[in-house]
Amino acid sequence: MDKKPLFKLREVSFGYRQGEPVFSNLSLEIMPGESVCILGANGAGKSTLLKMLAGLVFPFAGGLEAFEEQLTEKRMENDRFAQEYHRRVGFVFQNPDAQLFTTRVWDEIAFGPLQLGLSPEEITTRVEDVIKMLSISSLKDRSPYHLSQGEKKKVAIASVLVMNPQVLILDEPTTGLDPKTQRWLVELILELNHNGRTIITSTHDLNLVHLLADRVLLLSEDHRLVYDGPSQKVLANRRLLASVNLIDEYSHTHDQGQHTHLYVHG
Ligand SMILES: Nc1ncnc2c1ncn2[C@@H]1O[C@H](COP(=O)(O)OP(=O)(O)O)[C@@H](O)[C@H]1O
Ligand SMILES: [Mg+2]
Repeated sequence: MDKKPLFKLREVSFGYRQGEPVFSNLSLEIMPGESVCILGANGAGKSTLLKMLAGLVFPFAGGLEAFEEQLTEKRMENDRFAQEYHRRVGFVFQNPDAQLFTTRVWDEIAFGPLQLGLSPEEITTRVEDVIKMLSISSLKDRSPYHLSQGEKKKVAIASVLVMNPQVLILDEPTTGLDPKTQRWLVELILELNHNGRTIITSTHDLNLVHLLADRVLLLSEDHRLVYDGPSQKVLANRRLLASVNLIDEYSHTHDQGQHTHLYVHG
């Protein structure tokens, strides 16, 4: 099969401030239909990389391609281009409070479709469908601000899914959620991927990586891509995980004498 990459970064450099690059010469490709997880310690650059793919920040050097076209700040200044891009590439922020801004869940979910200029019937159908899919009909008339963290996350995801995006980017999707909602979300992510969506997630949680994706992009603390491959293989590489500060080397003494154990951060 002759598939073309959906995202292509070629020697990309990016920094929030001049003279302080986060990424230097970062190259990677993501294929359509993949599920990829970006793994790294706090500050490794996970959110920054996701924001770049979502067209929210732009490289100052190198090439960023999405859907076989250059993605630049200049092109994103075109409202039509930006609207279409953000419809195709949905972004779920780590903190749902950053995303919710209306006073009623139904309006929150309907906002995107309204912006697209769909008919009222079409909007209602789409909103009701996604509400059903996420089992949140009891929240419909509530204020997003007064929901639990897990409920807020569901509404934030609903407001992205209602746009029927081709690519779904979720930044640390399960952070702050109870175990049951975590499991629900992991299953939803798998189902969406199974149905053809390209899924890009991030985490620093080693227990989640293999559930979220088959392929891992590992970022070091100095923002370099130090591994790109199967999740099972990186999880078995304790030395590599220790070098990026995802596990701690820890010495203690047994009856048999001095040992070094490797422990996963809690
Ligand atoms: N808005 C910002 N302004 C300036 N520096 C930032 C901003 N966001 C992130 N950074 C810096 O960029 C680096 C990568 O951060 P980030 O992408 O948030 O990492 P992660 O998501 O892996 O925790 C860090 O050094 C962080 O301090
Ligand atoms: Mg982050």
